[in-house]
Amino acid sequence: MGYKDGIAYQYMRETKYDRVSISRRDDLGPIPRPPIYKTYPGATKSPLPEPPFEETENFWNILNQRRSRRRYTSEPISIETLSSLLWAIQGITLSAPAYEFRAAPSAGALYPVETYLSIHRVSDVKQGIYHFNVPDFALEEISAGNFGEHLSRAALDQAMVGRGAVLFIWTAIVLRSMWKYRDRCIRYIFTDAGHIAQNLQLAATAMGLGCCPIGAFCDDEVNHLLQVDGEEETTIYLAAVGNL
Ligand SMILES: Cc1cc2nc3c(=O)[nH]c(=O)nc-3n(C[C@H](O)[C@H](O)[C@H](O)COP(=O)(O)O)c2cc1C
Repeated sequence: MGYKDGIAYQYMRETKYDRVSISRRDDLGPIPRPPIYKTYPGATKSPLPEPPFEETENFWNILNQRRSRRRYTSEPISIETLSSLLWAIQGITLSAPAYEFRAAPSAGALYPVETYLSIHRVSDVKQGIYHFNVPDFALEEISAGNFGEHLSRAALDQAMVGRGAVLFIWTAIVLRSMWKYRDRCIRYIFTDAGHIAQNLQLAATAMGLGCCPIGAFCDDEVNHLLQVDGEEETTIYLAAVGNL
């Protein structure tokens, strides 16, 4: 068996659209549609401040300066800065009758990606794992403590993970997209995550912060920490952010 028989090629082959396959019935059966928002009703919830939307560098300079930065100082970031970063990735920017559109695009406006944070050094926020509640623009506490070292080990010992002020952790609630796109959903889930991460890196650059996207991690070690099952909801991407 060669690389062309592996699941990478097979997945792309079997999820291609053409004039026939686009309307072919698959045999996946009915797929339940989960709610568009995940919330933790029992968790301690802290509202985030309005992002200050401060003047930034010219947009073209920000694009030119964007780089993956892996060394950070131990200076904390402010809650307003964190708020701006969260708004940049998943803030609601347009409310329409059937949809609430966000800062980053999403296939079918289905928004399968959830954001969690491992907070290490954010002024006035205690260290811990948090979930970003999108509709309420708030943080929900999942576990208290500093999980930087633990996550650094999970990310194949990449030190920046623990040294950053905050680690963004993105999961996918797969059925949110699969319900409509069937097996092709995996393509869209990862493209959605790419848009989100790019918004984060550009917003971080605009505010003079360092940011590095991270794809190398042991999936289930992170899933376990977030208390997600690794199947219906599974970690897909990380990004460290810190002061330079
Ligand atoms: C999907 C993805 C996964 C990545 N994973 C890692 C990683 O695990 N560790 C790391 O140090 N950099 C990681 N990076 C950053 C790349 O190394 C970086 O984007 C690349 O070297 C280009 O540099 P630039 O982003 O500064 O332009 C990742 C980037 C992407 C897009």
